[in-house]
Amino acid sequence: MANTVLIGGQWGDEGKGRIIDLLAERADLVVRYQGGSNAGHEVHAGGQKYVLHLIPSGILHAGKICIIGNGVVVDPIELVHEIRQLRRRGVKISTNLKLSETAHLVMPYHKLLDERREFLKGKGRIGTTKRGIGPAYGDKASRTGLRVLDLLQPARFRKRLKQRVEENNRLLRALGAPALSFEKIARDYLRVGRFLKPFVVNSVVLVNAAVEEGREILFEGAQGTLLDIDFGTYPFVTSSHPTAGGACVGSGVPPGAIHEVVGVVKAYTTRVGEGPFPTEQRNGVGRELQTVGDEFGRTTGRARRCGWFDAVISRYARMVNGITKLAITKLDVLDRMPELKIAVAYRVGRKLLRTLPADLEVLKRCVPVYQRYPGWLSDTTKVRRYADLPKKAQTYLEAIRRETGAPISVISVGPKREDTIYVKNKR
Ligand code: IMP
Repeated sequence: MANTVLIGGQWGDEGKGRIIDLLAERADLVVRYQGGSNAGHEVHAGGQKYVLHLIPSGILHAGKICIIGNGVVVDPIELVHEIRQLRRRGVKISTNLKLSETAHLVMPYHKLLDERREFLKGKGRIGTTKRGIGPAYGDKASRTGLRVLDLLQPARFRKRLKQRVEENNRLLRALGAPALSFEKIARDYLRVGRFLKPFVVNSVVLVNAAVEEGREILFEGAQGTLLDIDFGTYPFVTSSHPTAGGACVGSGVPPGAIHEVVGVVKAYTTRVGEGPFPTEQRNGVGRELQTVGDEFGRTTGRARRCGWFDAVISRYARMVNGITKLAITKLDVLDRMPELKIAVAYRVGRKLLRTLPADLEVLKRCVPVYQRYPGWLSDTTKVRRYADLPKKAQTYLEAIRRETGAPISVISVGPKREDTIYVKNKR
């Protein structure tokens, strides 16, 4: 039985929701292991569109156990909202959803601090989703966080919360934000705590029991490799580990229990928020990719920055995640492009780099070295077999495979489940 981690190989928004949905069909358990409601996984199923922020996309398949792991930071109010919304649309959510008792909580002061810090950074801002992710992980690392299990112990929760609100109110006032009401937070959180109680489990034991029983597990990464707090373009990153290693610490499974790593990359590159992006096209090409690809954030509605496929970062993603299979999304977005480019290296002064420099000041000066490919100028949305793709599209995909160094297993050519090409011969 293959336990698979699915990760984003770029700056997030690679269309992971789409591929998770396909892989979830085979899995017994689907586990989210990091991030929080900053994610927005879009899935088209049964003629309907769903955007999931905290709940694993496996929830759209009947009979799958979906786990929000210990590595996730959970805004419980958002989670209840998401559960209710999905239920209203006929999605069954009961014992199929499990919430780790040791996941940390995103609190109202985290969101206010996130907003305030971004505002005060001015031009140097990160461009966060303002969902309180950084401050919540900050409290976790500072050992001052509140966890899901605290929500289930009202007296203890009130005591700890009081102390946290007092300290954070001092901080908020100093940063020019309004103070928060302890009573209101306590009331709101304990109410959602009662709602969430039936979902709360010791997820570490549950996931490991599934490993022992040989059940198939899919670990669902959110964001992308270049947003990883250690491996991404720091400080323009998120505060968690979207990389494959994050699946172990964010769920409690040992590294040996993971067999496959599927890296999802878009057939071009996008990024939301600030930070360097060497292949960005601030021109007609970028605008065309943005419009045709509908490149607007599912969580914040922000327009995504767009550019050419960057093999330097996909190669890096292959290396740090140990990608065993590539899934390439949104190939059809390129159908009308007369010419395509792939960055295979960066030039900085007289140096040629094939790997990503860690220093952002160097990365900012990097000029991509491109290989050019003729566009195929035909509709790929109806294609279902690799051999039926236009030869020029095959050449382009082959270049991505060669430069990244991992075989392609899936290609998506549209938003629906069926708009998929499965590649059997491991290109
Ligand atoms: P945060 O995760 O809200 O703290 O945002 C930090 C950085 O990660 C910003 O550049 C965000 O735009 C980016 N980011 C966070 N979540 C996502 C996502 O799901 N897709 C793409 N970018 C994201």
